[in-house]
Amino acid sequence: MSRFAVLASGAGTNLQAIVDAVASGQIDARPSLVLTDRPGVQALARAEAAGIPRAVLTFGDFDDREAFTDAVVSEIKASGADFVVLAGFMRILAPAACEAYPNAIINTHPSLLPAFRGASAVAEAIAFGVKLTGCTVHFVDEELDHGPIIAQEAVPVLPDDDEDSLHERIKAVEHRLLPEVVANFAAGRYQVDGRRVALV
Ligand code: GRF
Repeated sequence: MSRFAVLASGAGTNLQAIVDAVASGQIDARPSLVLTDRPGVQALARAEAAGIPRAVLTFGDFDDREAFTDAVVSEIKASGADFVVLAGFMRILAPAACEAYPNAIINTHPSLLPAFRGASAVAEAIAFGVKLTGCTVHFVDEELDHGPIIAQEAVPVLPDDDEDSLHERIKAVEHRLLPEVVANFAAGRYQVDGRRVALV
């Protein structure tokens, strides 16, 4: 059975959705590590409750992004992970991460990429006045929120939405889509041809 590391920075509700999908048998793979860049976040408590090994690496403790990334990759490798899931991980990793895990790092992003890359995707969608946004699950490459798209789902923006209400509805979709993608990836069901990802 393959193993995977989950990287998170906050509440860890996407991590929880993955943990639940492992418990229910939807995902036929085992989490080997939950790594965060912030001590004390809820994602760590969720990992502890699920009996998953934990690691905290604080960005400020490293000289630069490259050194931070090397440490992150070392932890992931030491856990025996075959692939990696970024579930609300708010740090940008250096290219060494995708060199170590080519097309084997999965990220979830709260917009329909390539619209609204970056850390403020939900607020920017509201400010721009789009009527539809959503979430994208994609492989990580060297560019931010850019790699081959695995799955996307649209979420309507309602007239009274603020950032919190819209993000909650997007997260509800992520909680279904991300575990589905992890299950398919663990089952070896994705074929990648350049930017195009096929479910086989
Ligand atoms: C998700 O919406 C993810 O796409 C974004 O941050 C949120 C993480 O939420 N990057 P959680 O920590 O999984 O609850």
